[in-house]
Amino acid sequence: MARVNEHYLKLKAGYLFPEIGRRVTAFCKANPEAKVIRLGIGDVTEPLPPAIIEAMHKSTDEMAKHASFRGYGPEQGYDFLRDAIAANDYKARGCDVAADEIFISDGSKCDTGNILDIFGTDNVIAVTDPVYPVYVDTNVMSGRTGAGDDAGRYAGITYLPATAENNFTPELPKTRVDLIYLCYPNNPTGTVASKETLKKWVEYAKANDAIILYDAAYEAYITDPTIPHSIYEIEGARDVAIEFRSFSKTAGFTGTRCAFTVIPKSLTGTTSTGERVDFHRLWNRRHCTKFNGVSYPIQRAAEAVYSDAGKQQVAAIIKFYLENARLIREGLTKVGIEVHGGVNAPYVWLKTPKNLSSWDFFDFLLSKGNLVGTPGSGFGAAGEGYFRLSAFNSRANIEEAVVRFSKLLS
Ligand code: MLT
Repeated sequence: MARVNEHYLKLKAGYLFPEIGRRVTAFCKANPEAKVIRLGIGDVTEPLPPAIIEAMHKSTDEMAKHASFRGYGPEQGYDFLRDAIAANDYKARGCDVAADEIFISDGSKCDTGNILDIFGTDNVIAVTDPVYPVYVDTNVMSGRTGAGDDAGRYAGITYLPATAENNFTPELPKTRVDLIYLCYPNNPTGTVASKETLKKWVEYAKANDAIILYDAAYEAYITDPTIPHSIYEIEGARDVAIEFRSFSKTAGFTGTRCAFTVIPKSLTGTTSTGERVDFHRLWNRRHCTKFNGVSYPIQRAAEAVYSDAGKQQVAAIIKFYLENARLIREGLTKVGIEVHGGVNAPYVWLKTPKNLSSWDFFDFLLSKGNLVGTPGSGFGAAGEGYFRLSAFNSRANIEEAVVRFSKLLS
């Protein structure tokens, strides 16, 4: 008799974004004339810029000729892309990261979930709350938690609240933890971590022999020059942190799929007998066994993000989305809504008016304004009473959304 993985049965309802999709589809079916504006899932809307498309076309043509055709590539990624990342994302910021410490993949969602393969099941996990749901759900699926409660908290996970009261800077854990997920610029709150804050985390990890799983998928949106783009800008982070990066939000690759994970060779953990083993070796083994690499044309497209033209074009798109975020922030502030984030991130995090619950506010916006956002409680118990708006949309839709918000809320 085939048994199921019963840990899946502990998961709360559906994954957040499909659940939102389900409600919006039902609404649209019942109200076919409604012009719904979607500021829910953070999915890019601008097309890939010319330098990237050109590289994709050129490399696709190479695949059409015997002389330049390529089959399986290296599982870890082609050197041309790993070298470009090491030079531009790390060396240029003074970070000590070598090209062979970079693993190319098809997404940070997959990598932040799959990374658990190389960690023992008895590690104590800490997440900030609210949090990107993938970190929590993948721990539930792999049996690292107990049951969930009504607010969506699972036994065995240490939750570190990030709220307006602590300026979205969670306190260090009061009890010992082994693995800490951090995401900056933060999804969902759109807030950032200063160098001092990250230093404290690195010190904590060093003192407790813990590992930081650092998700920097939104680093390209940082506008404040004092904010670190990488955890490796902090001295000593090489020994305590894994970093996840993605081309999705940076360069519009949500449908194209390319990302990377950095595992420094100096990062180690212990076996049950106290022997130290490096995680790079384990991830390399996992990657080679379960993954066959990102396609050649897509890696060439990602390489083009680092060309002069690519850098300029990508920066222009990020500026465009950040201007959208500014319009949302200012529009909401004008009607008295408390807003956070949206300056160094494509997400605006707002306090729901009149103490509405996050899902009640979702239903109100959808039914009365035909606007879609993401309920804060879907990201964790401490997100209750908050709501996330994504700045990924056309300018016309953002402007129209701001008009609708002001009509509904003033
Ligand atoms: C989000 O809206 O939080 C993101 O688009 C989800 C993701 O990156 O997987």
